[in-house]
Amino acid sequence: MGDATPAAERAETLAILAAEVETCVVCRLAETRTNVVFGAGNPDADVMFVGEGPGQREDEQGLPFVGRSGELLEQLLGEIGLVRDDVYIGNVVKCRPPKNRDPRPDEIESCKGYLRTQLQLIEPKVVVTLGNFASKLLLRTDTGITRLRGTAYEWWGRFLVPTYHPAAALRGSARVLGEMREDFGTVQSIIEGKLQRRTPEPAPEEDAAVPDPDPEQLDLFS
Ligand code: URA
Repeated sequence: MGDATPAAERAETLAILAAEVETCVVCRLAETRTNVVFGAGNPDADVMFVGEGPGQREDEQGLPFVGRSGELLEQLLGEIGLVRDDVYIGNVVKCRPPKNRDPRPDEIESCKGYLRTQLQLIEPKVVVTLGNFASKLLLRTDTGITRLRGTAYEWWGRFLVPTYHPAAALRGSARVLGEMREDFGTVQSIIEGKLQRRTPEPAPEEDAAVPDPDPEQLDLFS
């Protein structure tokens, strides 16, 4: 997808942004991180995954999903005929929250512009949100992942497929893993052109714990 920008230009702009984010000190997570985990993968990908935030292994290596969750993600990708280099993987927050605590609303707010730019540059055909934080942010809702998943949403002219975070499948039941497999099957159907139907994005909830829209940035998930 993303025919508007040539692949080389897209990669170059992402690299410039990544270098900028390396030195980001906008929120408190900068004080405790080892490395910024900007994101990695194919800048021209049809599928972009959005996780929550780096864990310990990711913080050490500066790469997303290199721990156990990453192994499961790669396994699920393999089951639909994809490898990591085919897709792009990013996160809601680019720095590890201490002791893997949840990212706080102000940290998400500080970081979301970077994610927005990644999505705008990569222009994936399908965005796959992994877990509650990414799904709620992009769909601007307080509804939890258990209710959101199982649907391919219409999202800014592309598909958004919310699914569980791989960590939930690792610590959870066989049902969670089975439902993740279903959702990955949906992604496969979309990229093979076998699924056209999308559910409209849920109307933003007034009381959703998402930041107020910034009138300058009324695009994607502001
Ligand atoms: N969990 C995430 O949400 N992101 C990563 O990069 C790794 C684990």
